Amino acid sequence: MSPSANVRLEGIVKKHGSFTALHGIDLEVRPGEFFALLGPSGSGKTTTLRILAGLEAVDAGRVVMDGVDVTHAQPGERDVAMVFQSYALYPHMTVAGNIGFPLKMVGMAPAQIDTAVREAAAKVDIGHLLDRRPGQLSGGQQQRCALARAIVRQPKLFLLDEPLSNLDAKLRLETRAELRKLQRSLGVTAVYVTHDQEEAMTVADRMAVFMEGRIVQVGTPHEIFRKPATVAVAGFIGTPPMNLLPAVLSPAGVQVAGALMDVQAGHGAENSREVMLGVRPGDLRIAPQGIPARVEFIEDFGDSSIVNLEVEGQRVKLRAGETPGLNEGERVHLAFDPRGAHLFDRASGLRI
Ligand SMILES: Nc1ncnc2c1ncn2[C@@H]1O[C@H](COP(=O)(O)OP(=O)(O)O)[C@@H](O)[C@H]1O
Ligand SMILES: [Mg+2]
Repeated sequence: MSPSANVRLEGIVKKHGSFTALHGIDLEVRPGEFFALLGPSGSGKTTTLRILAGLEAVDAGRVVMDGVDVTHAQPGERDVAMVFQSYALYPHMTVAGNIGFPLKMVGMAPAQIDTAVREAAAKVDIGHLLDRRPGQLSGGQQQRCALARAIVRQPKLFLLDEPLSNLDAKLRLETRAELRKLQRSLGVTAVYVTHDQEEAMTVADRMAVFMEGRIVQVGTPHEIFRKPATVAVAGFIGTPPMNLLPAVLSPAGVQVAGALMDVQAGHGAENSREVMLGVRPGDLRIAPQGIPARVEFIEDFGDSSIVNLEVEGQRVKLRAGETPGLNEGERVHLAFDPRGAHLFDRASGLRI
């Protein structure tokens, strides 16, 4: 039997009173995949995860796991485990008690529970902490305890809701790599909620981008980075995200801030058309001619820098090397390779 589940959401609608939190979510997560639900706060990620867990009823649509309709199945009837943002550990129980709790609930014999708890704790390197209580653990150790409790039942589907958000930045980086390794070694399907695009980009096999209760794009991190489907996705992905400027597309090229710039062949419009021009900070450069801009300030990261510029009252960021050799207040011109230009329809926000 495969240790990992195939999961499908079909036309999921979820309302809270008159407010619609999810407007028809369609999604398929493949067996063994590390799948991220990425989007800003309030976009419906947690709601979707809770629906997968069976903690939330739906107003329309179906949840299908391994071909079986589980829309109305209780959480205990689904082979899933969830790690909450808050960890939700029982403070009065030891680490061993917390990890073994799901097994106790299903009536497993104490000796078997003991073995399973030790195995799960060892997998996340907290085997030496089994007699402590959660209050005697660091944030990172509490997080591992919550993970061990989730994997102890060997679920086919692992649901994680911002599991790293309570850790400091350095620990978050280490833990996300470990989490990914753990998921691979268990061979379990994982659905991972985060609002942090960098986190999603680095851990996920594929991801769905949520905006206002809808999925606006599904793909590999690479695909979404290369070809964001909408202006909103473009402005959300990348560190820093893509620069977006109002422009007019015509057969001659794209007119932006008084400059006419080349865009890739095939992008040419028959008439002129109002668009948003997107260029990533790494695809912009200082040039003898191009878009007029003024240097505002420079963020120096030692091995690279971000030059913050102003173009017609708008902030634009350019990624440069160690010493860009620019002064604050200096007037410059910006250019980009035509292949680095992303164009979106101004009214609909959709990629052209
Ligand atoms: N129990 C609830 N009652 C009313 N509104 C809710 C409830 N749960 C969530 N919401 C709303 O649904 C939207 C989606 O919430 P959520 O799924 O938690 O977003 P995310 O996890 O992406 O931040 C938000 O606007 C939130 O305020
Ligand atoms: Mg949430």
